[in-house]
Amino acid sequence: MESLDQDISDNNMSQPDRNSESSRLVTANASSKPSYLNIFSNLLSLVFVGIVTYCSFVNGITLFSFHPPLMAIGWMIIMTSAINAISPGDLATEWMPIRLRSARHWVLQLFGAILILAGFLVILSNKIINNKPHFATLHAKFGLSALIFMAATMLGGIGALYSLKLKHYLAPIYTKLLHASIGLVTFSLGVVAISCGLFSDWFSAKGEILQYTSLVIVILVMLFTLLRPSLKVYFRLRERLDNVN
Ligand code: HEM
Repeated sequence: MESLDQDISDNNMSQPDRNSESSRLVTANASSKPSYLNIFSNLLSLVFVGIVTYCSFVNGITLFSFHPPLMAIGWMIIMTSAINAISPGDLATEWMPIRLRSARHWVLQLFGAILILAGFLVILSNKIINNKPHFATLHAKFGLSALIFMAATMLGGIGALYSLKLKHYLAPIYTKLLHASIGLVTFSLGVVAISCGLFSDWFSAKGEILQYTSLVIVILVMLFTLLRPSLKVYFRLRERLDNVN
């Protein structure tokens, strides 16, 4: 929490201290224009979860039926909301103090990770029970990489939370930038995995309309979710590098 306290005191300054060892990455101001894109993106994600859940249960319930909905809810609703919570201009959380936004971010992230882990255990046991090969398809390979990156991002998140304590190893702003950058790669990997899942034999059988509608939704949600945080990371990194030179 120390780093968050520092963040809050940083926000009281009229000018950011460029030489500060714990410069903030999350801004607590209302200077960025609130955006309706995140709400729109959440609505699109809900439609996607609806399509995936319908397809999973329409022909009856099996163990496999739980894999797509759990992954879709965890990745497309909970994880996107967790990223939005610390992105500039999020209409739903813009009014919150920075500590609350940070807490919302990691609590949602933890909840999403639990759902995603459950979805992974479902598909893993399903394959073991049915004696099928593991990590054989492109979807499975990207899915596994997304899960490994997710674990790395979460570890990095603990580092970002306690970045002041780690300042002798790495300046807090870099700990946070590293966490944010790995997080953005993680989210993208998951979206690639989901897109490959939409072209699996199982989903292809549901018809092209559902397949391509889902693909368009997933790509739009990815763009809406990643655009602002990517720009934030880019500008913050450029600012630090300009400062060094
Ligand atoms: C980011 C979210 C997702 C991740 C991380 C993920 C991960 C995985 C992994 C690792 C496997 C292989 C397990 C093994 O080989 O033992 C798998 C299988 C599967 N998943 Fe997903 N999945 C995700 C979302 C989805 C979605 C949304 C769908 C449906 C549209 C889906 C459909 C399938 C299917 C049909 C299989 C069995 C065939 C195969 O191995 O490719 N998955 N998933």
